[in-house]
Parts: sequence; C-alpha cells; structure tokens
Amino acid sequence: MSGPHGLPVAIAGAGSIGVAFALVFARAGLPVRIWDPDEARRSAVPRELRARLADLDDHGLLAEPAEVIAGRVDVQAELAAAVAGVQHVQECAPERAELKRDLFGQLDRLAPAGAVLASSSSFLPASSFASDLPGRGRCLIAHPGNPPYLIPVIEIVPAPFTDEDAATRAEALFAGAGLTPVRVRREVEGFIFNRLQGALLREAYCLVRDGVASVEDVDRVVRDGLGRRWAHIGPFETADLNTRGGIAAHAERMGPSYARMGAERGQDDPWTPELVAQVESERRALLPAEEWEARVAWRDRKLMKALRPNP
Ligand SMILES: NC(=O)c1ccc[n+]([C@@H]2O[C@H](COP(=O)([O-])OP(=O)(O)OC[C@H]3O[C@@H](n4cnc5c(N)ncnc54)[C@H](O)[C@@H]3O)[C@@H](O)[C@H]2O)c1
Repeated sequence: MSGPHGLPVAIAGAGSIGVAFALVFARAGLPVRIWDPDEARRSAVPRELRARLADLDDHGLLAEPAEVIAGRVDVQAELAAAVAGVQHVQECAPERAELKRDLFGQLDRLAPAGAVLASSSSFLPASSFASDLPGRGRCLIAHPGNPPYLIPVIEIVPAPFTDEDAATRAEALFAGAGLTPVRVRREVEGFIFNRLQGALLREAYCLVRDGVASVEDVDRVVRDGLGRRWAHIGPFETADLNTRGGIAAHAERMGPSYARMGAERGQDDPWTPELVAQVESERRALLPAEEWEARVAWRDRKLMKALRPNP
C-alpha cells in the first residue's frame, strides 16, 4: 500500500487520534512528522506506536515489519519543523474552537502553500475556526473513526470556502492509505458519524432515565442485535431487506410507529412521500428489486460467517 506520492505528512497533536494517524500514514509508506506541545506526549509516542504495531502484527495485519513502519515516524519538538515540506497536515488537537482557530492560524502560516490542512474534529465544522485565514481554501475536516487504522471510514467535510481540489486531494491521500473517505455534502455539527451515533445515544439515555432498560441491557441489544447487522449493512439497507417490498413498504408499515416514537421525544421530521420516494429510488439504484432475495441470503451468510467459531 502506498499513498499517491511520497511527500511527508504532518500530525499536529499526539494524543489518541494523532498517534493512530501516524500509524495509518506510516503503514501506507509515507514519512510522518508528529508534533505535540506537551513534552510528555512527545516522549510517549514511540512507545505507544510500538505497542499498537505489535498488536496489529500479532493479528497478521501488517504487510511490513513493525520496526520498518515505526521508523517512518519522526517526533518533532517544533511545529515549523514538523510541517516543512509536507503534502498534508492532520490536526489532532483537543476539540475546542478557540484552540483550533489559533492552531490553524499557525499551520496556515507555517505549512507549504500546497499542503492540505485537515482537522480531525468530531463536531466542529471548519467554518467555526478557519473562515478568516488567508489559506482557508485548503482547510477542511477529515473526521476519522477511532482508531483510524481499524475503522476505515473517514468523513471529508469541506466548508463553503474549501477548494474542491483540497477535498479531492485529501480523499486520494486517505484512499491510498487504505481508508474509505465519505464526502459530507454540507457542513452540519457532528457530520454523519456522530449524528447517527448521537441519535442512538440520546435514545439510550432516555430508555435508562425512564426505567425501561439497564445500561448493560441497552448495550446488549446493540451488541447482540442491531450491531450484528450493522457490521455488514447500514440502517437503510437493513430496513430495505427486512420488509418484503423493500424500503417503501417498510416506511408504509412501520413509518407511523417511528413517527409516534419521534413525537414522544419532541421530534417532528416526517418521512414524507417525497422523501420516501427519494430513498426508495436511491436504494433501487443500489439493489434492483429482482436481486432482493439474493441480497437477503447474502446478508444471512455474512451473519453466519461472523458466528463461525474461530479455527
Ligand atoms: N477520541 C476519539 O474517539 C476521536 C474520534 C474522532 C475524532 N476525534 C477528534 O480528534 C481530536 C483529538 O482527539 P483525541 O481523542 O486524540 O484527544 P487527546 O486528548 O487524546 O489528544 C489531544 C492532544 O493534543 C495536544 N494538544 C493540546 N493543545 C494543543 C495545541 N494547542 N496544539 C496541538 N496539540 C495540542 C495534547 O497534548 C494531546 O496530546 C479532537 O478534535 C477529537 O474530537 C477524536
């Protein structure tokens, strides 16, 4: 696996996500420079990297010796040195708009004009901290799952001022490093990943508050229930495959129940006929109705494989 080209990548912030990104890029064959203002974090990086690489190696997930990959990561004490000559900066600092605004100001001054400046931000869009920068056209969000070397999806969220070229270059870099970029079409707090996660978590809190379930039982219903399917298919495909007649039939039969549950929580976002028709049309483009039975069987075989005892 190798990135689109071999210029170094810089990581600003060497916490959980920063160290994980160093591994992602180094695993892809790129030189990595990682910087953190905290000396304790800088000195922890080599040890943490070795431990994570050893675990991956034990699971047969490295294509090269761990020490070769670790050898590509260079810990830097100065931000200016870390970003010199890089193609991409991945900001992994704490989730605070003021801090990110200040850091992006420094990155925009110090990084080469051609470098993309990407933030790992989980909730804050780039508009909330990069809108006043001369180089705002190269700023965007690249929000990973945790850790990005195990969870491949990465959300690419351009601000209205982001150049298309910066977004496509970021996508190419991540795809070359084995991740699966998903473009978020419009800036919204929390993007897609945390909005979906948030919808579930908000309801989970309500169920515990209302005495419907224990914390353990909520987690068990997801772990031994919903999550089993979600390892293979998302919520739209789940609904599409669970109802003969597909997602339009699902919306007709189950829609009123879901609307009542939403209303209980003060939510009023009806699945209008136009919206259901759009979802149905996107689903049928992905899975023609005549392939529905075969896809249900495919899903079931995926679930069977996941249940098979380890050899
Ligand atoms: N942890 C997750 O599950 C997760 C998932 C996706 C995205 N993110 C996002 O990634 C970013 C980093 O999160 P994390 O979990 O790695 O946090 P963390 O607390 O583990 O690491 C943050 C690091 O930033 C350093 N730091 C502090 N001030 C800084 C500054 N001014 N400039 C640069 N670095 C600074 C800290 O010393 C620390 O090492 C956040 O925006 C977070 O929302 C986190």
